[in-house]
Formats: sequence, C-alpha cells, structure tokens
Amino acid sequence: MLTTLSILKADVGSIGGHVTPGKRLLDTISRHVAKGLDELLSDYFVGATGDDIAILMVHPRGVGDEEIHRLAWEAFKEGTALAHAQGLYGAGQDLLVDAFSGNVKGMGPAVAEMEFEERPNEPFLMFMADKTEPGAYNLPLYLAFADPMNTAGLLLSPEITKGFRFTVMDVGYVQGDRIIELTTPEGLYDLAALLRDNDRFVVEAIHSRHDGEQAAVVSTTRLHNIAGKYTGKDDPVMLVRVQKNFPATGEILAPYAIAHYVGGFMRGSHIGPLMPVTRSTGCSYFDGPPIVSCLGFCVKNGKLTEATDLFAHPFWDTVRTRAAEKAIEIRRQGFSGPAMLPYSELEYGGIVHILKRLEARFHVRPAAHPAEAVLA
Ligand code: 13P
Ligand code: 13P
Ligand code: MG
Ligand code: MG
Repeated sequence: MLTTLSILKADVGSIGGHVTPGKRLLDTISRHVAKGLDELLSDYFVGATGDDIAILMVHPRGVGDEEIHRLAWEAFKEGTALAHAQGLYGAGQDLLVDAFSGNVKGMGPAVAEMEFEERPNEPFLMFMADKTEPGAYNLPLYLAFADPMNTAGLLLSPEITKGFRFTVMDVGYVQGDRIIELTTPEGLYDLAALLRDNDRFVVEAIHSRHDGEQAAVVSTTRLHNIAGKYTGKDDPVMLVRVQKNFPATGEILAPYAIAHYVGGFMRGSHIGPLMPVTRSTGCSYFDGPPIVSCLGFCVKNGKLTEATDLFAHPFWDTVRTRAAEKAIEIRRQGFSGPAMLPYSELEYGGIVHILKRLEARFHVRPAAHPAEAVLA
C-alpha cells in the first residue's frame, strides 16, 4: 500500500526565550491533529526539539495534500493562540501569513514529505534540528549515502553498492525551485563541490539507484527568502528510510559523531557545532548550540510504532561533551572571522544598518606619489 509520511514543523512560541515550546503547547497541537484521525490520517506523532514543534502525519493522500497541510496549519494556529495567551516568546513566529492558501510551502512552516510503497518492514528516522539551517544535513547525508569510509554497506550490501541519486536545491534562488540531480559514486566530486556551501546548496531528496525508491527528504525552506528579512532560522526536519535497500540506521547516525560546525546558533548569525540531543531537548548556551534529535519508527499499514530515541544512547554523551567543547572554543573569538556568518548571511538587520551608515563615511585617500595614482 502507498503510504505518505508528512512532517510539518513550525516555531509558534516558546518558554524563556527561543528555548522550548512547553507541554501545554504540545498538547494543544496534538489534540488538534488528533481530530484528523480516521478521516485524513492513519496515525501521527508530535515532537519538539529546541523551540520547534514537528507534526509527523501518516496518511494515504500523497505529498502536498491540501487537507493535510490545512490540518497542520490550523493546529499551529491554535498553538499560536495559546502561545499568545500564555505570553510565550515569539508567538506565531513561523506563521508568516494570516490565511491558509492550499499548501504551507512558502507560508513559513518547514515541510518534508515522501510517499512510498511500504516494505514488509518499514523502519525510518525522523530528524529535527534547531538553531541551524537545512544545509546542516548536507555533510551527514553525503557521508552516509556516498562515502564507504562511513557506510560499510556501500561495499557490503548488493542493494546499495549501485549508489544513490541526490537532488540538490539552490536555496539562494527565490523565483522557484532550482534543482540539480547528481548520481554517486561517479558524481562524487561535483556533489562535494556543491554541498560545501551549506547555505546555498541543500540536499532535498535522495533516491536509490537499485530500485528507484526514495530514501530521504529534507525541508528546504528558507524563511529568510520568504519573509525578505530575518524571522528565525530555518530549523530543518528530515525523514530517512533505513536498512535493506538503504543504509543501516547506524550508518545514517554515524556522521553526527563529528558534531560538525554549521550556521545558526545565536540570532541565526553564527557558526556552532551540531550537537546530537535526546528528544524534547531545549536550547541554552548562546541560544544553542545548534542541536539535532533523531527518533526511529516503524510503520505498518499506516500505523506507527512508538518512537525510539536514537541519540539517548550513552555513546552520544561523549559526542555531546566534545560538541560543548567545540562550542566554547569557537565562542572564545566572539564576532571575529569565521565565528560569525558572512555579511550575506547575517540574519539580523542591526549590523546591516551600521555598515550602511559607515559606508557614507568611507573615502579614498588621495595618492601620495604620482606612481601610485598611475597604478590605481
Ligand atoms: P539487516 O541485514 O538486518 O538489514 O541489517 C544489516 C546490518 O547488519 C546492520 O548493521
Ligand atoms: P529560532 O529560529 O530557533 O526561533 O531562534 C531564533 C534566534 O534568534 C535564537 O537566538
Ligand atoms: Mg524561536
Ligand atoms: Mg527554532
């Protein structure tokens, strides 16, 4: 049977700053989504990471379905009303328009959806990240799907040695979806050349070359581009199917042991290590560090199992300690050089105004010697 998994994610308000949405808000959103059971949904799950709430819906209606998107949008609206009533910070932050218009894409919430024929057993992973951007998944996906140094299955498993097809989006292009498809292993260097640039080129989807099945989907929203000004980082969600014709769960998780540096962190304007955390972890140090959670599920005939919390394993404690050390280390240099994002990526208007004001005060010093004037 064809099953669709849809994650819609939004920040509609949080307690104590951009920290965590709180139980009442989660319950309110869950209760709203539950109204769609039977008629629209076969199952659902609501989770939080940092100040973001993700609604995972299981249904047979395909991707981009208006009623599914409406259900999530209205749940977020109801959550926003509660957030206002509770005085939560940033109430309604990611709902950028007042009225729903058929599909939440471009309206603020992040979306990651895929439709597939359920395998006899269908394990998948749901990732949620906060205080970072969709390109934060670039490196872990590259390593998990294209590098045999990470993924032994690329050598050992006949289903995945054929490689994968990556769909990469140019998120700097705002007139439409500008995408390119690259296949691995032969397109490895081209892929790396693009994925280097996390804030411009983002892996949107990955398909198996063995059977054409979709393995992964990432939300590629750029709130910055939608709103035309800073409204919060994009805090991406991702779905990854695992095992058999795809990498194993542990191969998908392994790259997160790097705690690689990503854009985001305080005011969406810095570089920090991506720390793997347990479910419902909030933010703290310097409004971060950037965090990622991962829940494992199986789905059968549209029904979900309970979630298993994959970064709760004791192994990840060491990684968390290292991530904290990396965060402290880069924060020691404050605004200087690579600790803060380049001008083109700065999310807050303040520095832009400062630089504009200073622009008027710059002048070119007259050349002291005629030779310099000739060179100039
Ligand atoms: P299965 O063969 O059970 O899919 O698991 C592969 C494996 O060995 C995981 O590491
Ligand atoms: P969020 O995008 O998670 O709301 O964070 C905003 C921010 O500026 C944190 O410092
Ligand atoms: Mg927020
Ligand atoms: Mg957030």
